Amino acid sequence: MGPSDIVKTAITRREVMLATAGLSLIGSMAARPATAPDPAPTTAAAAPSGPFTLPPLPYADNGLDPVISATTLGFHHGKHHKAYVDNLNKAVSGTPYADLPLEKIISTTYGVADKVGIYNNAGQHWNHSFYWKSLRPQGGGEPPVALRHKIDESFGSLDALHKEWFAAATSQFGSGWAWLVQDGNKLAVIKTGNADSPLTRGQKPLLTIDVWEHAYYLDYQNRRADYVNAVLDKSINWNFAAENLAV
Ligand SMILES: [Fe+2]
Repeated sequence: MGPSDIVKTAITRREVMLATAGLSLIGSMAARPATAPDPAPTTAAAAPSGPFTLPPLPYADNGLDPVISATTLGFHHGKHHKAYVDNLNKAVSGTPYADLPLEKIISTTYGVADKVGIYNNAGQHWNHSFYWKSLRPQGGGEPPVALRHKIDESFGSLDALHKEWFAAATSQFGSGWAWLVQDGNKLAVIKTGNADSPLTRGQKPLLTIDVWEHAYYLDYQNRRADYVNAVLDKSINWNFAAENLAV
């Protein structure tokens, strides 16, 4: 069995999970094919080789200030996220994974012992790309009506969602992510460790908060709770959640 057969077998094994996750609905997050044109260049452009590129931030480096400083955002996007992209490109170079969409790499390497490096970098590339869109300048406030209705239905109130999300984000031990997801007809809050995401759990991500220390340490040091509260109050992008919910 050659490398391409291994990938095909893995894909078959995970197709049900992939389908239930509704990954095809998150079209904007799909990796570009190797032959597709590069997205708009950024000041922190990805390495030229490899199928994956660092997406530009959807706002200026200081666009989330003072919740997240330009210094934090610059390092987080230009160094941390870029490193995941560069490492992923190196890891998939010359393998059948180089021709797969990012979500398929994640689903086919999840739980595969000798593919941990590819999985972690692919997962972190996807998670960070989603995280930038989960935030916005002058965010927070009142969600769009349809989303607000769904929040009230699932959590009882916006305040109850805030409390549950805060609890998940602050109780995640070590590095990880706190998510608002659609799980069937309901919304839910979950937390995942390291590079994991709802994609491998059959849940549709709506929003995420990065709770790795590199996301907040320069601004908040060890005060993760202050970072999470500030993001939820002033930077969370309810419109992005509403777009994902509507898909
Ligand atoms: Fe991060």
